[in-house]
Amino acid sequence: MPQVHICEVGPRDGLQNAHHLMPTEAKKAWISALAAAGLREIEVGSFVPAKLIPAMADTAEVVKHSISIPGLKVVALAPNLKGFQRALEAGAHKVTFPVSASRLHSESNVRMTPEQMVEEVRKCAQHPHPGVEIEGAVSTAFGCTMQGVVPEDDVVRIAAALAQFCDCVALADTVGYANPAQIRRVFRKVKSEIGEKLEAAHLHNTRGLGLANALAAYEEGVRHFDSSMGGLGGCPFAPGASGNVITEDLVFMFESMGLSTGIDLEKLFKAREHLLNAIPGEPIYGHTPVAGLPKGYSQYIYPR
Ligand code: COA
Ligand code: ZN
Repeated sequence: MPQVHICEVGPRDGLQNAHHLMPTEAKKAWISALAAAGLREIEVGSFVPAKLIPAMADTAEVVKHSISIPGLKVVALAPNLKGFQRALEAGAHKVTFPVSASRLHSESNVRMTPEQMVEEVRKCAQHPHPGVEIEGAVSTAFGCTMQGVVPEDDVVRIAAALAQFCDCVALADTVGYANPAQIRRVFRKVKSEIGEKLEAAHLHNTRGLGLANALAAYEEGVRHFDSSMGGLGGCPFAPGASGNVITEDLVFMFESMGLSTGIDLEKLFKAREHLLNAIPGEPIYGHTPVAGLPKGYSQYIYPR
């Protein structure tokens, strides 16, 4: 079992905000390459109205392909019961719901207040969903480009409400406002309320603190991280949002610390070619794939 679990969210968080549409066949090939590199959980798309986010129009087909990959947990985002039903029908293994702690972002993103969105997720949790995991993701948990400061008590309250009926809860830094001290404080506060139900950190690298924040979360006991290949990503309904923490660099950080992720870095770097070929012109980030692995890397990560 890997010591750190990474969920690749590029096909959803990344492509929803990309300037270029990735053809369905290219998405499938990219997801297969990510799985071949050792990713065991991939958020492959969202079930939202196609006219709102055209890049997600083919999610059902992408889910159907992804569930044929052995050992892969296939995640989809849904904003409401209709999206949840579509996700169940397509065969997703896990569905994640964005519940913004910022009222302004919530209204812009899902046209519901945070409280209404909590009730929408409750409705979904009460709908039969055998074997399907439900994640409540508290978005804008560390600040919001529209509202500014997001009170920590609001984050704790929403996380506690979601923990009543979700299998797991994530905290998301949707617009990359978080710093490591804040990450430690907020994760600790939420954990003291909901315990082990607090699972993942969903971090964006907008101000360059993605890895520092991931390490701070790790030190607070977090073992599940969302990240995206090439640092694609961002919420189209949060002004100023940009890419997620970069999968390639996050894997390098943990692996080089001797913490296994189950991911083969060379194969992961190879999977970037799918992005470069399918959406050329889209900025693709990543320090480690450009610089290469350090000389003697395999000896120093697992010293004998
Ligand atoms: N999938 C497909 N169609 C959907 C849908 C879904 N999940 N939810 C609603 N619709 C359809 C309705 O059937 C209706 O169709 P009609 O006009 O043909 O009757 C139309 O969309 C409007 O439905 P309504 O319930 O009034 O939704 P809305 O316009 O108030 O929008 C959301 C609410 C939640 C659907 C929308 O804001 C949304 O999808 N937000 C998510 C945005 C996102 O992906 N953000 C990034 C990820 S965090
Ligand atoms: Zn995000």
